[in-house]
Amino acid sequence: MIENFKRVSLGHFPTPVEHLKSISKHLGGPQIYIKRDDCTGLATGGNKTRKLEYILADVLDKKSDLVVTVGAIQSNHARQTAAACAKLGLKCLIILEHRLKKAPEIYETSGNVFLNKVFGAEVVLCPKDQVVEDYAEKIIQERISKGANPYFIPVGGSNHLGELGYIECMREIIENQNQDSFSHIILATGSGGTHAGLVAGKTIFQSDIKIIGISINHNKLHQEERVYQLALNSLKYVNHHPPLRDDVVVEDEYVGPGYAEPSEGMKEAFSMMATREGILLDPVYSGKAFDGLIGLIKSNFFKSTDKVLFLHTGGSAAIPAFEWAFE
Ligand SMILES: Cc1ncc(COP(=O)(O)O)c(C=O)c1O
Repeated sequence: MIENFKRVSLGHFPTPVEHLKSISKHLGGPQIYIKRDDCTGLATGGNKTRKLEYILADVLDKKSDLVVTVGAIQSNHARQTAAACAKLGLKCLIILEHRLKKAPEIYETSGNVFLNKVFGAEVVLCPKDQVVEDYAEKIIQERISKGANPYFIPVGGSNHLGELGYIECMREIIENQNQDSFSHIILATGSGGTHAGLVAGKTIFQSDIKIIGISINHNKLHQEERVYQLALNSLKYVNHHPPLRDDVVVEDEYVGPGYAEPSEGMKEAFSMMATREGILLDPVYSGKAFDGLIGLIKSNFFKSTDKVLFLHTGGSAAIPAFEWAFE
């Protein structure tokens, strides 16, 4: 039935799964695999490609001529939205908000900020004293008064449409695993749609795989409730019974000093993945999520017979803006 929802093709699917042989041996715990959603093919890849395939189908349906979205300064969602709009010939307006306490100028000009412009998007900075959604609403009203037909995508593309992309990803994971199945999926959880889509998929396909979100911002209770509500909403949208509350699990010990603020654990995880597997993580999401996986292994959370899938959600396009974080 998920096939019944409209979707535009933006990425390369299914994404590959690789065995992290060197890291699995180094950590001495369960075998670790990585699903390369950082290789979705759209504008250096990332988790937003799957979400945007469903959201932009709705944009085309509504005959909107201007896509508006919001995010942190180094938002990967913004960059992927800009690229998807370029591909579909749509105008794109991105409103970015400051979230770091202190950051060098390069953080505001390079990485995703630079790429948004490369993809032809209009980029506006939200004044520091305003809430980004309120500011976006003001701009949308202005554009409507000038005759535009804008379409607003919420932060991270996390809504019932975006989550269809991760219901589909869950199906892909279940269908593509060979012989023995994965025991756990570990991923970064932020605006929550990726995590919620996987939980909704687990519910629909009656999978035993345990899903653990590593929070990159909020505390456990806040994030679990947010993901649960999103999963509930997407399952309602596809006419399915609700998820189990216990299927939504978040670990919140790996946020470090705050959202996008570098942590020692993130730096170690980033370096381990680069030097042992030749794979780039990112400092804000996948780096902290992989730090979470390392922490769980070190605390003997897994059995040695477990088979763990780390979902790489992308973000490496932000690395040039974070060079200072590794100094
Ligand atoms: C690279 C990367 N990973 C993970 C996430 C978190 O995904 P979600 O917002 O769906 O929780 C994001 C969100 O922006 C992201 O850019």
